[in-house]
Amino acid sequence: MSKYVVTGGAGFIGSALVRGLLRQGASNVVVIDNFSSGRAENLEDVVSSIEIERADIRCYDQIAPLVRGALRRWRREAGGLCGVLVGVRR
Ligand SMILES: NC(=O)c1ccc[n+]([C@@H]2O[C@H](COP(=O)([O-])OP(=O)(O)OC[C@H]3O[C@@H](n4cnc5c(N)ncnc54)[C@H](O)[C@@H]3O)[C@@H](O)[C@H]2O)c1
Repeated sequence: MSKYVVTGGAGFIGSALVRGLLRQGASNVVVIDNFSSGRAENLEDVVSSIEIERADIRCYDQIAPLVRGALRRWRREAGGLCGVLVGVRR
């Protein structure tokens, strides 16, 4: 089973990414977001299918346990905001 961690997942692009992953059959999706601009409402329709963690990606201690075991990582950054998708396939 693959595990996906989407940072900024409560934002505009992140929440769309979460929906895309679920549409493609992902069953283990973890959102990391500090809700500085993201909103829980963006994930309202999928909240029962995902895990949401309020954390800051700049704090290693907060996110390390959430991404532990990741084999692959994609990162996109723009304007100081980051989106990180970590996929784990085993
Ligand atoms: N929306 C667009 O059409 C578009 C187009 C091109 C580029 N971008 C860029 O892509 C990025 C994301 O865009 P968006 O529209 O999804 O923005 P957004 O503000 O809706 O989403 C960003 C998310 O990241 C979260 N976040 C910010 N800092 C964080 C941190 N330190 N730790 C954890 N979570 C954090 C926010 O709470 C929010 O949920 C932005 O940098 C934006 O400039 C967006």
